[in-house]
Amino acid sequence: MKQLSNRQILLGITGGIAAYKSAELVRRLKDHGANVRVVMTAAAMEFITPLTLQALSGNPVHTTLLDPEAEAGMGHIELARWADLILVAPASADFMARLANGRGDDLLTTLCLATPARIALAPAMNQGMWRDAATQDNAELLRQRGIALFGPAAGEQACGDVGPGRMMEAEQLAELAATLFEGRALDGVQLCITAGPTREAIDPVRYISNHSSGKMGYALAEAAADAGAQVTLISGPTQLACPARVQRIDVVSAEDMYQASMAQMGSCQVFIACAAVADYRPAKAEEQKIKKSRDTMHIELIRNPDIVSAVAGHPQRPYTVGFAAETQDVLRYARDKLQRKNLDMIVANDVSDSRIGFNSDDNTVTVIDANGEQRIEQMGKRQLARQLIANIATRWSQRD
Ligand code: C5P
Repeated sequence: MKQLSNRQILLGITGGIAAYKSAELVRRLKDHGANVRVVMTAAAMEFITPLTLQALSGNPVHTTLLDPEAEAGMGHIELARWADLILVAPASADFMARLANGRGDDLLTTLCLATPARIALAPAMNQGMWRDAATQDNAELLRQRGIALFGPAAGEQACGDVGPGRMMEAEQLAELAATLFEGRALDGVQLCITAGPTREAIDPVRYISNHSSGKMGYALAEAAADAGAQVTLISGPTQLACPARVQRIDVVSAEDMYQASMAQMGSCQVFIACAAVADYRPAKAEEQKIKKSRDTMHIELIRNPDIVSAVAGHPQRPYTVGFAAETQDVLRYARDKLQRKNLDMIVANDVSDSRIGFNSDDNTVTVIDANGEQRIEQMGKRQLARQLIANIATRWSQRD
């Protein structure tokens, strides 16, 4: 497999003579299998034309932040989410200074602020500018924030000086970009997550549902995608935006969610059941709106399929993780569910406490599996999701 197969790389080009090498870089990234989109600053266009980069990348080049036509195509937030990596090459001293200061005064800096993806810079400038204390401080600050710096290389410069500040060669940059995707805990693993509530129709305007916001499942989807997994999120109705690099399948009822989950069996390697699935549905959803006439009414409810049990019982069973949201005797019920549903791991949380659980941003859970029990103290759902994904990745790597 090519090193950058299916990776989505947003190549930022800033103003510097090394911008002529960016054309070659687009070729090299594509040779390694990447999909490339190019963003140019105004200064970059003084050195190389957007037309050249459009022809090489096969995609329109993005140049301005406030262009209604470009925004109607792929808006800047969409572009920021599209990227698996933003590689800025060449990165000028001015661009690094603006990035270090959190500026969003052009399209490229705005994208860097908005993106959940990794950012890498290939600095290129005169050796005196590179050695300057301000540039060195900016470089250090950017490194501390997790931005990768590729180079600069040393040698003869376009201005005649000799020293550090040359942009690295295109092939080297493409290879360094590939290393950023290596060694991630769930690289290439097909992972499926159910999230949110389900809605069970009573009639065309009414339904039975619950308070699940979907936040935990969405945070898990984001964390799993960051760990390199190919994530399918099967989601009931929520108000949440789909995380970057996650494929979402929208469903409404438990039956829809069951069907969508079963369709993933065979390809899915890890299944995380985070949805708050309605246990029962009306035996018959009325075709017309029910009129109020009697003082009492009865709706007959029938059991919904248990999705996670069906997944765990499937012949091509994935590593299966369930959640147990309980209001009392949390651990006892969770242990029982782990066994009864034949799960590999269960995440137990106490939803009687309003500071955690449904709709809140925080959560405290206990992870139970064959290796024992581990309590994870109250932390933001996103941070908790990263911790849980790390636990799942460890168990996954230890599988037989
Ligand atoms: O049985 P209980 O609803 O408490 O189990 C919770 C776990 O089972 C969660 O992981 C939930 O997503 C899953 N579940 C399911 N299908 C159902 C009910 C629950 O997948 N019908």
